[in-house]
Amino acid sequence: MTKQEQYEALLPQIEALVAGETDRTANMANAAAVLHEAFGFWWTGFYRVLPAEEERVLVLGPFQGPVACTRIPFGKGVCGTAWQRAETVIVPDVHLFPGHIACSSLSQSEIVVPLLRDGQVIAVLDIDSRERNTFDETDRYYLEKIAAALA
Ligand code: SME
Repeated sequence: MTKQEQYEALLPQIEALVAGETDRTANMANAAAVLHEAFGFWWTGFYRVLPAEEERVLVLGPFQGPVACTRIPFGKGVCGTAWQRAETVIVPDVHLFPGHIACSSLSQSEIVVPLLRDGQVIAVLDIDSRERNTFDETDRYYLEKIAAALA
C-alpha cells in the first residue's frame, strides 16, 4: 500500500473516531495512537498552546513514543516555529534545522502541523522519524486534514 492509500484509509477512521467525542484531549490521544500504529513513526504526538493569559509556551499533550520535552517556547524548535508561522514545517534532516530541540537523539526528520481554530494555533501535531527525508507533501496534505478534524 502506498503512503497515500494508507492515509486515505486512515482519514475516515480518524474522522469517525473524533466525530462522537467533543473532548479534544481524548481525540488527540486516539489520533496519535492511530497514526503511530499505522506508520511506525518514532514519536507521534501533540503540544498544546497554553491559554493567552499564561506563559507563551507549548505544553506536551497526548503522544505515543518515548518521553519528550514538556515545554517549548514560542518560536523555538520546529514546534515553536510552526506555531509562530501558523503553518506546517517539514524538516528533512533535523541536524540541519537551526534551533531544533532534540528530545531524542534518534530522531532524524520531523513534520509539525498546526491545529488552527478561528485562525489561531491551538496546538501542534509533531511527528518524528528515525530516518531522514521521511515527510513530504503527501504527509502535509493528509496531516493537515487530520489536524483540521481535531481543532
Ligand atoms: N523536535 C521538536 C521537539 C519535540 S520532540 O521532537 C517530541 C522541536 O524541535 O520542536
